[in-house]
Amino acid sequence: MSVSPRYAVLGAGNIGSAVIGGMLKSGIAVPEQITATVRSREHADELAGQLNIRVLHGGNLSAVETADVVILAVKPAVMPKVLQEIRWALRDGRILISLAAAFPIALIEGLTGRRMPVFRAMPNIPCVVGAGATGIACNALATSEQKQFVEQIFSAIGVTCFVEEDLLHAVTALSGSGPAYIYMVIEALIAGGLKQGLSHEISTRLAEQTVLGAAKLVKDTGLHPAILRDQVITPGGVTISAIHELESHGLRSMLISAVETATEHSRTVTSKIVERTQISE
Ligand SMILES: NC(=O)c1ccc[n+]([C@@H]2O[C@H](COP(=O)([O-])OP(=O)(O)OC[C@H]3O[C@@H](n4cnc5c(N)ncnc54)[C@H](OP(=O)(O)O)[C@@H]3O)[C@@H](O)[C@H]2O)c1
Repeated sequence: MSVSPRYAVLGAGNIGSAVIGGMLKSGIAVPEQITATVRSREHADELAGQLNIRVLHGGNLSAVETADVVILAVKPAVMPKVLQEIRWALRDGRILISLAAAFPIALIEGLTGRRMPVFRAMPNIPCVVGAGATGIACNALATSEQKQFVEQIFSAIGVTCFVEEDLLHAVTALSGSGPAYIYMVIEALIAGGLKQGLSHEISTRLAEQTVLGAAKLVKDTGLHPAILRDQVITPGGVTISAIHELESHGLRSMLISAVETATEHSRTVTSKIVERTQISE
């Protein structure tokens, strides 16, 4: 990989522009190294102004022609069209990174018709504030140097972990969809505070900081959450009465089942994508 690789980010929407923002902020790349693409001219102009990079509309092929690293951040449904559009420009020595949920590496390889390093990264929405969690998988052609390189890109928007591709379904179910579960928890805590007479503003501030602080304590101490939970419990106290209530409604079991159901759903989505995508020579 060259010392200052050139990047093409195809489909710089929410996630694509968050990745670009992270790369620029962390100094992984300077604006001159990045070309992004979107569909509409208005969005291209807006993004170019925001990020101070070159943004093309309808220019996927020209962005890829000059790139060493191609990041695909379009929606899964648009992937076949975009991959077929750019396949001719994917010369040796390039890396392809797809962010498209549930879109398997084998299909990307089939649609490009190239033997090249292909990565799939599954970030989650907090990456827009630099607090994402990204699961990454790759094909057998990726070298350990390229893995480190890709890991560095996603470290700019949060934490990363490498997994086997099949486990990306579980990553999608846990951290990909996870923010939605936690938003429900925050929403419910706010409602609990409101019901007990706290103002909306105070309930919100306390609920968001409680979730943030609890997660930070798990992360910083490295202790199992069950140990930290026990530390908050006083025999016969307030917390244990609330925990009894949560246990009687099956909070933990519900979350385990949610992750299980979402994992299976992600597998189904992949099967449907594979079924309906035709690979032409
Ligand atoms: N959102 C998440 O939490 C999340 C998490 C992990 C992975 N992902 C994956 O990330 C990808 C992007 O999701 P997103 O939420 O960022 O979607 P998004 O905000 O809708 O961004 C998609 C972008 O693609 C552009 N686009 C559409 N057709 C194009 C084409 N033919 N060539 C180039 N650009 C094109 C759109 O341009 P215009 O704006 O001009 O229409 C838009 O900016 C998806 O594959 C999704 O599965 C999302």
